[in-house]
Amino acid sequence: MATAKCSWWYICGRRPAGLREGVNRGDTLGDALAECARLEQASILSFRQLANDLRAHGAPKKLVRRALRAARQEARHARTVASLARRRGARVTRAVVAETGSRSLEAIATENAVEGCVGETYGMLVAAWQGTHARDPQVRAAYASIAPDELEHAILARDVDTWARSKLGSSARGRVQRAKATALTRLAVRVHSRVPRELVEQGGMPNVEASVALYELMAPLPTRR
Ligand SMILES: [Fe+2]
Ligand SMILES: [Fe+2]
Repeated sequence: MATAKCSWWYICGRRPAGLREGVNRGDTLGDALAECARLEQASILSFRQLANDLRAHGAPKKLVRRALRAARQEARHARTVASLARRRGARVTRAVVAETGSRSLEAIATENAVEGCVGETYGMLVAAWQGTHARDPQVRAAYASIAPDELEHAILARDVDTWARSKLGSSARGRVQRAKATALTRLAVRVHSRVPRELVEQGGMPNVEASVALYELMAPLPTRR
């Protein structure tokens, strides 16, 4: 399970197990983009880890290929968002991930449910929102290009969830489901966090009202079971 505490203005991205605490703090758009770039970079590691986990547990090759494709897409996102942050004078800190070793299918399914079915799915909605609402044209263009990839990642999370649950017993499936429900409850609280004005206006981040509306949109998306 990921242990990093997500920055309050960016409740998304697929965090790998063993990710160290975030260090790009601050209220400016540059600071927020630097933290986003770090989480995009962490997502590369998360998808590589997922591909290895899927292979180790005999998942269909297509799922493994999709996880590797997602890792390549996250590498592009990390470069794009880091470039936006640096143009605003922010320093981007690299994601640091501790070695986790091999994991049980239940651990993989739980992480996928929390980070993919909840975190990245909400992240996809936020990216799509930024891609249409950011006043800064560079930020708007960047997120308009990132959002379709994030939709693929949300769908991949749903498909990994379906495959993993088909292999787990009913007790384990129940625990995965409870972990997902807990992640949704936490997110329901976090979407009420106030977002600095610069991030809403220039960065296109959803304000509280829009965040709550995006959260409510998740019902028909991959988190529904
Ligand atoms: Fe991404
Ligand atoms: Fe992603």
